[in-house]
Amino acid sequence: MTKVDINKQLEDMQKVAKLNENKNPKYSILTMGCQLNENDSEKLCGMMEKMNYKKTENLSEANLIVFNTCCVRENAEDKLLGKLGEVKKYKEEKDTIIAIGGCMMQENHIVEKIKQSYPYVDIIFGTHTLHQFPTDLYKILCNRKRIEDVLDIDGEIIEGLPITRNDKIKASVTIMNGCNNFCSYCIVPYVRGRERSRKPKDILQEINILAKQGYKEITLLGQNVNSYLKTERENNIEFEQYNGVNSFASLLRAINKIDGIERIRFVSPHPKDFTDDVIEAIKDCSKVCKLVHLPLQAGNTNILKMMNRKYTKEQYLNLVEKMKLQIPNLTLSTDIIVGFPGETEKDFEDTLDVVKKVDFEQVYMFIYSRRKGTPGDKMENQIPEEIKHKRFNKLKELVEGQIAIKNKKYVGTIQKVLIEGRSKNNNNMLSGRTDSNKVVILEGRNELIGKMVDLKIVSEHMWYLKGEII
Ligand code: SAH
Ligand code: SF4
Ligand code: F3S
Repeated sequence: MTKVDINKQLEDMQKVAKLNENKNPKYSILTMGCQLNENDSEKLCGMMEKMNYKKTENLSEANLIVFNTCCVRENAEDKLLGKLGEVKKYKEEKDTIIAIGGCMMQENHIVEKIKQSYPYVDIIFGTHTLHQFPTDLYKILCNRKRIEDVLDIDGEIIEGLPITRNDKIKASVTIMNGCNNFCSYCIVPYVRGRERSRKPKDILQEINILAKQGYKEITLLGQNVNSYLKTERENNIEFEQYNGVNSFASLLRAINKIDGIERIRFVSPHPKDFTDDVIEAIKDCSKVCKLVHLPLQAGNTNILKMMNRKYTKEQYLNLVEKMKLQIPNLTLSTDIIVGFPGETEKDFEDTLDVVKKVDFEQVYMFIYSRRKGTPGDKMENQIPEEIKHKRFNKLKELVEGQIAIKNKKYVGTIQKVLIEGRSKNNNNMLSGRTDSNKVVILEGRNELIGKMVDLKIVSEHMWYLKGEII
């Protein structure tokens, strides 16, 4: 399917580009959600720029506004509905084309709501039809009839789409789409479909090109990166061999050999699939950062069971122990949900206990949000909002206390920092990150951007450190 399909897309991109000739049209894009969505948006930007649209941050001057949506929590959905109200006036003033894509569009009830309450939306496209955006857009430009282009079945992985990346030093590379895990709180498997791994050759070629373009840091993306090619291995499905890559660990080792790339990160692995070969690859590969994101979600074994996470509190702690023993300078970050249905105060204390024991570098904390269609939504014993908030604040206090202590330990140390650009908050300073993903700001000239430098940390602040070149 992919080959023919992509040619059709390229043809339609050319047709739109021709319609746009000498018109100087502009586009705006608003992305919600995770890094996978950000990466999809980079592909949408690539396609729009091929079609002669230029990017603008100013919605009022855009001829085309694209929303790439997320539905992982209720507040992500609210954000879209608020923004849609805001763009109505642009539609009325200058007939701006409004397109909505992404995860939220894979939910029937949302698509129905948009069709009813926001009739001025021109294109609705899903996660499996992102590559067809040029065709949808061409149709709209020829004939202003609303298009709904959402597929329920898992789309194939499409290679060869143009891409305009957000950054010149760091690049994201999606290695797989979808998720097979069905954690009971989570909507992602319903809106992103089953796991599909990209071919090793396609991934390595993309990273080779990035290295030649001067990119220094690669983040491998997937809902469950360490089950890369697992479906193929378990079911004896043949896939094209390349450089001996047949698993996540061997993929890390192959990328580690690519000249020019200096750092490799990945999100998110699942603790249940964190096999020894992955631990060994992290230890052996000098470019793989020693910060590992290891989503915990909850610390209590019974809650973990209700969440369908497939590990116990002890198994998680044992895995952390094993990793700490084997990987020198390991740091860990995690995701935690508070207030899952049935979570008692005692259960929540298990979460606090794990946080105390592991001493994470960073914790992304979420309040449980009921998602329609998930088992969690149908569970009894939903937790009242004020209790969820109380627990959230308690966890936040613990985490911030731990981070404050850890920040102090950075002062006086020498850190390898990849300089990413000028600091967004202070244009006089440069900004970079440590291996452990801590932001460090420093005085320095633009020539340092893209370089890995040794910095002495001279002071600490809650969300960043200050460094000096030694
Ligand atoms: N695949 C990744 C991340 C998926 S979504 C993983 O398994 O870790 C990112 C995070 O959002 C999750 O790790 C989880 O902590 C949070 N999340 C997912 N569904 C949620 C819900 N219904 N309510 C609150 N947080 C949720
Ligand atoms: Fe959601 Fe669980 Fe899949 Fe992550 S592993 S995307 S939390 S179902
Ligand atoms: Fe959101 Fe979709 Fe990512 S639901 S978190 S944008 S996979």
